[in-house]
Amino acid sequence: MKTAKTLGFATRAIHDGQAPDPLTGSVTVPIYPTSTYVQQGIGEHKGYEYSRVSNPTRTHLEENLASLEGGVAARVYASGMAAIHAIVSMLKSGDHVVCGNDLYGGTPRLFNQVMADLGQEFSYVDTTEADNVERAIRKNTRMVYVETPTNPLMRISDLAAIAAICKRRKISLVVDNTFMSPYFQQPLALGADLVVHSTTKFLNGHSDGLGGVVVCAKQEHADKLAFLQKAVGAILSPFECWLVLRGVKTLAARMEIHDRSGRIVADFLAKHKKVKAVFYPGLANHPQHALARKQMSGFGSMITFETGSLKNANKMLKKCRVCSLGESLGGVETLISHPATMTHAGLGEKGRKQIGITDGMVRISVGIENVEDIIADLDQALAAI
Ligand SMILES: Cc1ncc(COP(=O)(O)O)c(C=O)c1O
Repeated sequence: MKTAKTLGFATRAIHDGQAPDPLTGSVTVPIYPTSTYVQQGIGEHKGYEYSRVSNPTRTHLEENLASLEGGVAARVYASGMAAIHAIVSMLKSGDHVVCGNDLYGGTPRLFNQVMADLGQEFSYVDTTEADNVERAIRKNTRMVYVETPTNPLMRISDLAAIAAICKRRKISLVVDNTFMSPYFQQPLALGADLVVHSTTKFLNGHSDGLGGVVVCAKQEHADKLAFLQKAVGAILSPFECWLVLRGVKTLAARMEIHDRSGRIVADFLAKHKKVKAVFYPGLANHPQHALARKQMSGFGSMITFETGSLKNANKMLKKCRVCSLGESLGGVETLISHPATMTHAGLGEKGRKQIGITDGMVRISVGIENVEDIIADLDQALAAI
């Protein structure tokens, strides 16, 4: 089922692609754990032939996510990285991609250590200045790949300005929207061609399954990505699709709490005497605060802060009790991590220094627990420094 575009986000999150099952009336989409489908005769079937190609639970999730991001279609994959891999698999050897220089660490690892060996070229620029993107474009540039806010420095890129450059130069713009979710940021409406998410994060929201999605503004990309699902096979299983369908129903409600608590925790950290700097687009002293207000409808719950040293970071992280030390983000539980040794270890010391990631930085994904408990936990942990 696809509801009218005039319906609100929370309504569409619950109903688009999630109509009651016509056979039984079940209000939740059934999980179809089948590899194949009986056919009535040669070439006669009900739209499904083999589950690598398509599966009804997956179809429902893809309809839902396409609606939430405002795309023509969505394609889901086994993880966020599998989704990003599918995107660059649409390119050829010799093609060039201009990328942000402050991406999730796994993305440059895929680009530099896998795709570069197959002949693709990648260059990395500070995309917070749209002019840097224009300057990096070469004759063989086919794609611009941006994450905003960035991970972990929370820098914001002007999507409408970059989209205008891409349009003029006939290059596709890809935006990783994992940190904001479609609830707070709609890159396709700002001119992007493709949006990617690690559904592992806010879309699922319960830290119980990996997944990735690409939402397309153009049918030609959707067709190519469907072909890659079939040809490569890195698809999301029916059960994992169901987990995301379950999670996405509460996306709007969860994001409201994440955002409210994120602002409160950022304010607390900004005033704390042991904290040397806070990176959060909702703070008035964030360098792109005005752009964040214009481009996003909330600031979310991802905050990075500076403790001063690896020793300080370790001391405080060991003391956290409500906040769980671990990789990942976007779950109902507050997750706290150390970018230099976790998500961005692969960049090496030099790579991290170049973009400004220090050993003392701690990243927090504020969950939906009582915010007073999160703050009390951070306060007692910071006392260890
Ligand atoms: C912004 C961002 N994009 C992509 C990914 C990769 O997603 P996955 O871990 O689901 O493969 C991550 C993982 O942390 C991420 O934070």
